[in-house]
Amino acid sequence: MSRDALEYIARRKKEINALIMAHYYQLPEIQDAADFIGDSLQLARQAAETDADVIVFCGVSFMAESAKILSPEKTVLLPDIEAGCPMADMITAEQLRETKARYPGAVVVCYVNSSAEVKAESDICCTSSNAVNVVKSIPEDREIIFVPDRNLGAYVQSQTGREMILWEGYCPVHNILTAQEIEEQMQKHPGAKVVVHPECPPEVIAKADAVRSTAGILQYVQSTPGQEFIIGTEEGFLHTVQKKCPDKNLYLARTEFMCQDMKYITLEKLANALREMQYQVEVPEAIRQKAHQSLEKMLSIA
Ligand code: 13P
Ligand code: SF4
Repeated sequence: MSRDALEYIARRKKEINALIMAHYYQLPEIQDAADFIGDSLQLARQAAETDADVIVFCGVSFMAESAKILSPEKTVLLPDIEAGCPMADMITAEQLRETKARYPGAVVVCYVNSSAEVKAESDICCTSSNAVNVVKSIPEDREIIFVPDRNLGAYVQSQTGREMILWEGYCPVHNILTAQEIEEQMQKHPGAKVVVHPECPPEVIAKADAVRSTAGILQYVQSTPGQEFIIGTEEGFLHTVQKKCPDKNLYLARTEFMCQDMKYITLEKLANALREMQYQVEVPEAIRQKAHQSLEKMLSIA
């Protein structure tokens, strides 16, 4: 069935001029079937630039929504409509409006792991790879509200020296990684470099040699001398890194490191999405326009 699905996917995507985009946390077979794999920033840029008529987004809903916000004239498909991000669900537009009312004049920086409605209420978006530069771009005399990830927010504070009003959201997948688990891996693999995602808690980040987005971790492993790396991010990520760096030894920072939502999309669902043109992602135009401004502002900075 998988081989049939793969053949069908290859044929059908040409027929409808579709681009298959995948995040690094997708199942290995989905990453292999994709035309483009990237972190959130690279995927957003690619969505804005592609001349495909259809974008099939193998990721979670906020990523597919961002593609639609940036490319409203394109058909954007999410092969499993249930694929969401629990962190993005930790803040609503209404909650953000209430917070803004308490801090009038504050600039709202919104991590892209958020709904279109929350992006629409924000001044500028950021991803894990450009959050530091986005915050540095804000005038020193302005207060900043940072939503929804408290761990990314704390990391940005440590890098910029800017105190921010942090929303108490977190990624349930990265937030459970402990400093003790990192220490255990360091004892098992002395000499290994430790590189983690900024969604990890501060005490984990304190132990790391480097803190990067998913694409940044790949780049770090490729460009850093040494054979061994302890990786603090979701397990699907190892697939492409190991393919690109076959001579490096990669160790996941904890044994269970899985984002369930990222695994909803299978080859069969991808084939089905292309066949049935489902599930089409739509964002109401008034919200799209405002969210577009926040995303565009981010893209113009970093
Ligand atoms: P990246 O932008 O680093 O790929 O991260 C997205 C994400 O959801 C991490 O959990
Ligand atoms: Fe959301 Fe965390 Fe999954 Fe990324 S890994 S999509 S932040 S739940």
